Amino acid sequence: MASFSPLSLLFLLLLQYPFLSLSSNSEGNALHALRSRLSDPNNVLQSWDPTLVNPCTWFHVTCNSNNQVIRLDLGNSNISGTLGPELAQLHHLQYLELYRNELSGKIPEELGKLKYLISMDLYGNKLKGRIPKSFGKLKSLKFLRLNDNKLSGTIPRELTHLKNLKVFDVSNNDLCGTIPVDGNFGSFPLESFENNRLNGPELKGLVPYDFGC
Ligand SMILES: *[C@@H]1O[C@H](CO)[C@@H](O)[C@H](O)[C@H]1NC(C)=O
Repeated sequence: MASFSPLSLLFLLLLQYPFLSLSSNSEGNALHALRSRLSDPNNVLQSWDPTLVNPCTWFHVTCNSNNQVIRLDLGNSNISGTLGPELAQLHHLQYLELYRNELSGKIPEELGKLKYLISMDLYGNKLKGRIPKSFGKLKSLKFLRLNDNKLSGTIPRELTHLKNLKVFDVSNNDLCGTIPVDGNFGSFPLESFENNRLNGPELKGLVPYDFGC
């Protein structure tokens, strides 16, 4: 009997079954990794079967015509647990809707890699720690709602570079320092900042933006 090294066996297997691509389902793997972090008492993630070729038939997941994930809709789903860096593998994500759940822990700074993201709704959870500076790289972002969490630290000035940002809400957190006034921040209503430890709009040159932090 001929003996084959494991690698050559794999090669033979791939010759016969070219659809067994090794790289295919990174988005499904990322979502499955997210699922493993979450507690899901209402079984909203029951259809998330990692043995399928891609996650496009899973409930609460939407893909484009190239089978790339563009939406994750898990608002009001009673899920708890933490978010992880694997969400950054959803390279084509446009809508990250995780509002009104019991999510805790920090917001992963890796989410700043989602360059096609249009909307990030994480409001109404128990998220703590800082708003990642990396969000200043989310050039497509129009809606960023982080209100009603336990976020602390300052509002990163990097966010003032987001030219497309239309709605920004961080009310009801534990943020400190001053409110940025540059870029689109000149047009956000004060209600978006209420119920924090913020010291009012930034007065450039008079007080540092992290005054009181
Ligand atoms: C949410 O999950 C908890 C269990 O963790 C359960 O007691 C509660 O009824 C659920 N709420 C809703 C609205 O389904």
